[in-house]
Amino acid sequence: VNAHPLTDLFDHAPAVRAEIARREAEGVRWNDTRRTVELLHPGHLELTVTAVVRETATARTFRLARTDGLSLPPFLAGQHISLETKIGATATSRPFTISSSPADLGHYDVTVRRVAGGRVSNHLIDHVKAGDSMRSSGPLGTFHHNPVFHGDDLVFLAGGTGVAPAMSMIREIVGRGLPRRLHLVYGSRRADDIVFAGELAALARHPGIRVDHVISEPDAGFSGHTGLLNAQTVLELTGPLRGRMVYVCGPRALHRLALAGLTGAGHPRRRIRCEADGLLEHPEREPGWPAGLAPQEPVQVSVGGGEGRPSPCGRTLLEELEEQGAAPRAGCRSGVCGMCRVRVVKGTVFQPAGTRPRLSDERFGYVNSCTAYPVTDVEVAA
Ligand SMILES: Cc1cc2nc3c(=O)[nH]c(=O)nc-3n(C[C@H](O)[C@H](O)[C@H](O)COP(=O)(O)OP(=O)(O)OC[C@H]3O[C@@H](n4cnc5c(N)ncnc54)[C@H](O)[C@@H]3O)c2cc1C
Ligand code: FES
Repeated sequence: VNAHPLTDLFDHAPAVRAEIARREAEGVRWNDTRRTVELLHPGHLELTVTAVVRETATARTFRLARTDGLSLPPFLAGQHISLETKIGATATSRPFTISSSPADLGHYDVTVRRVAGGRVSNHLIDHVKAGDSMRSSGPLGTFHHNPVFHGDDLVFLAGGTGVAPAMSMIREIVGRGLPRRLHLVYGSRRADDIVFAGELAALARHPGIRVDHVISEPDAGFSGHTGLLNAQTVLELTGPLRGRMVYVCGPRALHRLALAGLTGAGHPRRRIRCEADGLLEHPEREPGWPAGLAPQEPVQVSVGGGEGRPSPCGRTLLEELEEQGAAPRAGCRSGVCGMCRVRVVKGTVFQPAGTRPRLSDERFGYVNSCTAYPVTDVEVAA
């Protein structure tokens, strides 16, 4: 690669040059934009599972490589992919954060924990094995470090597999020797639920990394920090936050607790970033849900004037369209990315606060189908 000598002034210039050379060897031609975009940002990724690693009794890491042997698209630590799967006759997807480092584009790791009654998490853990083929989106999402706005002194509050983005960030900091500090405060129910326990202990020896575990249901004799990840516990461990960027990823309850507690303690809201929340367990408990309407109540959902099918009104439009084989592609499944937009031509949908589509979508009748609940009979444009 012929590089201007000035590029030597940039951090990691040799690594960037190596990456450019590798991509060129894989067919990228920088003066051919279409080819470059197709290779670096493909609409879909065809993947092969190269290994499945048991992390805890309920969590597995799936190592995924591109089936064509090329390098995977670059991503920012904290981003996720939308993993597509077919369960019975239904094609569906779920977002999973990439837990491996962006420095290694030979594979993406995703770390999946069982959810009681969950369709995809249990399907992956029980049935997917090394050698299987999978499909996914490219890397998605805005829950990642931004060196310009976030600075180099970071706090990460994680619960359960919410540690995955932190793991990717920490692996990158240590692997690339970045001049960045990250203090992970990681809540788990029991000590044996901690994902990546051994590797985190080793990474915490790096001068920029500190890891504290907080266990909510400790065994007798446990001597570490216990309780819930509330603001008091967090501040005791981190000390004053003073403008540090705080990332939060885990169960919805952790997001609420962290937001209320930390802003209540004076930390500005703009210095707290929460990952997308995913599917609501009880949409009928959200403000604005039609009074007296039970989530099992059936409504008719049809596409393009077709006959339609009865669907419980507590099921999202996206899930129902997946059952009908008429679903749009989906990314975050949390009402954030807008990939799953559909146009509602008849009927009313309930959209929980915070998942409102853009103003132009509202004006033209589009909704994010992953967070839209059909509370009357609904027809969606084909
Ligand atoms: C941006 C993003 C990144 C994510 N990254 C990861 C990851 O790295 N690893 C990982 O294991 N999961 C991750 N998730 C969650 C994942 O996408 C699925 O939602 C989760 O695996 C459950 O899917 P399921 O099909 O098994 O459950 P579903 O069949 O979709 O849901 C079954 C029931 O469980 C509830 N539920 C759904 N998700 C959860 C949950 N996470 N915890 C508790 N209850 C739930 C639902 O409300 C429903 O009542 C992420 C979610 C988002 C939005
Ligand atoms: S999939 Fe992201 S908004 Fe629906």
